[in-house]
Amino acid sequence: MAYQNPHLAETAENLKQQFKELDHKPDILKAVELKALFDELKTLPPAERAGFGKEANQLRAELEQMVADHQSQTVSLAPIDITAPFDINVPVDQRPKTLPAELGSQHPLMTELYKVLSIFNRMGFAAVESREVDDDYHMFTSLNFPEGHPARDDYDTFMTTQTDANGKPLIAPAHTSTMQNRVLKQFKGNLEAGGSIAVVIPGRVFRNEDLDARHEHTFYQLEGVYVGRGINAGHLIATLKTFLQTYYGQALEVKTQPFYFPFTEPSFEFALSCPFCQKKGCAVCSQSGWIELLGCGMIHPNVLREAGIDPEIYTGFAWGGGIDRLVMMKYDIEDIRHFEAGKLDFLRQFS
Ligand code: DAH
Repeated sequence: MAYQNPHLAETAENLKQQFKELDHKPDILKAVELKALFDELKTLPPAERAGFGKEANQLRAELEQMVADHQSQTVSLAPIDITAPFDINVPVDQRPKTLPAELGSQHPLMTELYKVLSIFNRMGFAAVESREVDDDYHMFTSLNFPEGHPARDDYDTFMTTQTDANGKPLIAPAHTSTMQNRVLKQFKGNLEAGGSIAVVIPGRVFRNEDLDARHEHTFYQLEGVYVGRGINAGHLIATLKTFLQTYYGQALEVKTQPFYFPFTEPSFEFALSCPFCQKKGCAVCSQSGWIELLGCGMIHPNVLREAGIDPEIYTGFAWGGGIDRLVMMKYDIEDIRHFEAGKLDFLRQFS
């Protein structure tokens, strides 16, 4: 607004400059320069008073409006949400074009996981989800890894600076076996009632890996636990073979070779005949005709005992293997890193 009175015009400029620099904008209405204008008004000859008074009031009204505008602006600015896909303060037509929800699709790993769980469900297995932060007891001690045992080094994962009740760091679990002790305890009533424990445990696991086409720091595993009377390694092999043939929709051969895990005795590495070349040898199976798929074995008596189950009466088997690996083989996916990359070109092939 242009003011006729030169002194008033000058004060108006000065006050507007001050307004810009003020942290607390309403203070402008208390400025000494503004008050001085009204003091000056009283000293003016009556002929000038009306015109000056009108302009002084206009200036005050203009400043009040500036304060009000500024306040309404700050109120409408929501605090910044760093998880938002765009800045909410940006006008609608300038925001990035995000995908509408109806164009989204289920991640292929989840689609396949539901197929896997449904097969095991029909075989009588319940499903319990694993967890993404765990403690030293479930990661190691309950699984018969003695304190300081070198086998602990095979599971190099991430730890928090926060500690558990025993002063040990919390752990991003390197395998779903961390759940064994929990499900054994949770379902041991089944044994007392004359039944068995049959549980599969899907979960996200983490490893401090050098990344390449076959190694990712974050991936999914499926653990399985079965305990009852008179259970032996034949039941283990039959269960896994039945599952794999159903999942891949073809007859397969399977084999086990001795291995070492602290929580199973005996322990095996479980391999299946390559579903791509029917054992003739191809790039997927490195010309060997076989694919090593997972670790398994008969649950170690110490693991059963730790969960309050008498190993003299009950025996059981367990296995754990990567879900990513299973899905990669089914769809001939060449690089495990596609799963966590969030690339639409990859994901759209499955939607
Ligand atoms: N937890 C093992 C791993 O990630 C795999 C495994 C081996 C799980 C034997 C089991 C088992 O339940 O019995 O390397």
